[in-house]
Amino acid sequence: MKFEAELSSLPAQTKLMPFECKKYLLQQCAVVEHALTRYMLSEEGPLASHIKAMRYSLFAGGKRIRPILALAAAEALHAPTADLLPIACALECIHTYSLIHDDLPAMDDDDLRRGKPTCHVVFGEAEAILAGDGLLSFAFELLSHPDAQQGISPIAQLQMINIIAQAIGPVGMVGGQSLDLAAEGQSISFEHLRLIHGYKTGALITASVQAGAIFGKADAKQFTALSHYGMQIGLAFQIVDDLLDVEGTTENLGKTAGADAQRNKATYPAFFGVAKTKIMAQEAVEKAVTALEIFDAQAEPLRALARYIYTRNN
Ligand code: IPE
Ligand code: IPE
Ligand code: MG
Ligand code: MG
Ligand code: MG
Repeated sequence: MKFEAELSSLPAQTKLMPFECKKYLLQQCAVVEHALTRYMLSEEGPLASHIKAMRYSLFAGGKRIRPILALAAAEALHAPTADLLPIACALECIHTYSLIHDDLPAMDDDDLRRGKPTCHVVFGEAEAILAGDGLLSFAFELLSHPDAQQGISPIAQLQMINIIAQAIGPVGMVGGQSLDLAAEGQSISFEHLRLIHGYKTGALITASVQAGAIFGKADAKQFTALSHYGMQIGLAFQIVDDLLDVEGTTENLGKTAGADAQRNKATYPAFFGVAKTKIMAQEAVEKAVTALEIFDAQAEPLRALARYIYTRNN
């Protein structure tokens, strides 16, 4: 853990004035990448081809936003983050599984992800389903890994696992994906659209922030504030994802632009138009930043991440 400990304890978030978001993201991305390399199974033995498919999608790039959010939430509470890395990696494994399955022909049927052919295009549909299943199950190995038992009480760790499990299950990400598919080509209400976005994307992002909050021993007030922050940036994240599908390029996104309109997806731009959607995304970001009022300068990464979620171009 030496490398991670060194990098995580860099005083970037305290001493840089003004806070340099780009530098912070690069630094934290490297920390997560290094931890993923350390924890992920290696491609050897009789299961090499299965592990290869998991690694293909996991190490295809990606912004690593969910693990970075977990680390930043703990930082906001002045907690050292090295021992949170197995949890952070678990969040990224879960997210990558969701992308592999989201791209399947039976779901969004996408050929490009993270700038590369999708998992099912390279390994076939059956192996892509299994690679997703493998990453999801492996995430629970990481959530309960001996390294994940450091710096946290067993009760708090169980609470964290329970929150993550709820967020990605039937009343969370998976349920949201089900609603998303059912809404294709349908005319739905704004409340329903918001619900879909909250479940399919907001829930895991909120749980990532909450995981950091629990690790950082947040009190009730801090936990509530961080949860509000998480819900607002989670919503903003999917709204901006919808916007990027309209305004972004395939090259920048690393996934096919314009795919939502082609599949008649329920999106904010389709519902409100691009201009109003941008305002709604900004409003969500502002609400997120406001929720952090009770925190000091250690929450600057979280504030910057909220703004980045709106200004990002991929
Ligand atoms: C894409 O997530 C899928 C959504 C939930 C909108 P990201 O935009 O975080 O994708 P990566 O991890 O950077 O590839
Ligand atoms: C994906 O939403 C949400 C999850 C993977 C849970 P999208 O279908 O909009 O994501 P992209 O645009 O394919 O990345
Ligand atoms: Mg989808
Ligand atoms: Mg998709
Ligand atoms: Mg999308």
